[in-house]
Amino acid sequence: MERLDKILAAQPGVSRSDAKRLIASGAVTVDGKTERSAKRQVDVERSAVAVNGVLAAFRRNRYLLLNKPQGYVSSTDDPDSPTVLELVPAELRVRGLFPAGRLDKASEGMLVLTDDGAFAHRMLAPKRHVPKTYYVEVDRPVVDEALRAAFAKGVELGGGDRSSPAGLRILSPASAEVTIHEGIYHQVRRMFRRHGAAVTRLVRIRIGALPLDPALPPGGCRELTEEERELLLKTTEPQRKPEAEDGGD
Ligand code: URA
Repeated sequence: MERLDKILAAQPGVSRSDAKRLIASGAVTVDGKTERSAKRQVDVERSAVAVNGVLAAFRRNRYLLLNKPQGYVSSTDDPDSPTVLELVPAELRVRGLFPAGRLDKASEGMLVLTDDGAFAHRMLAPKRHVPKTYYVEVDRPVVDEALRAAFAKGVELGGGDRSSPAGLRILSPASAEVTIHEGIYHQVRRMFRRHGAAVTRLVRIRIGALPLDPALPPGGCRELTEEERELLLKTTEPQRKPEAEDGGD
């Protein structure tokens, strides 16, 4: 259920104030009856909403949160491996659903799936620098203050790639939380590789301000709440590129 003005304002070219004006003018009907309250709660999948007598084909986009287990690829189809789409329960599947972002096949954790291309673009556009945080375990004890300082300067990844300054929260000599601001191919694995360690476990635990729901088990998938979606959108407003603590090297 959603407010009528919000439903109308979700259509291209209609602002919230346009929607309120249309409703107040008596141009909008719900199930054939004129509705003058912008606050009226409507389920667009069950009720017929019309504007000036023309039935509007409203369709809600879908936004899902998935806790990806290892072994699934972040794409819509793959000849060799199961895809994350196979983890979406039948009742949540819609045409055009795709993962808004990538995790390696061996990585785990938070993945958002949607059929809303504009939303995905907002989350993924490099200029937005949406921070993503990973829980990382490595095969040798390299996690220390020196590594934190190195990550804070940005890491040369090879192949012409360089990460911007990244956050490192030390958990133990072989585990940490790492926050990065871009999505370079195998970025976190390459950052540690550069410092002599192989990543043995990589779990995305936060995108922007939205943490992975601890109640969502590996392989679990559910709709994002309205508040969670708003939170994600808020943190995808253009952010300043993080600056190196020490000018970079
Ligand atoms: N960095 C990686 O190396 N792999 C991921 O899956 C995500 C970030």
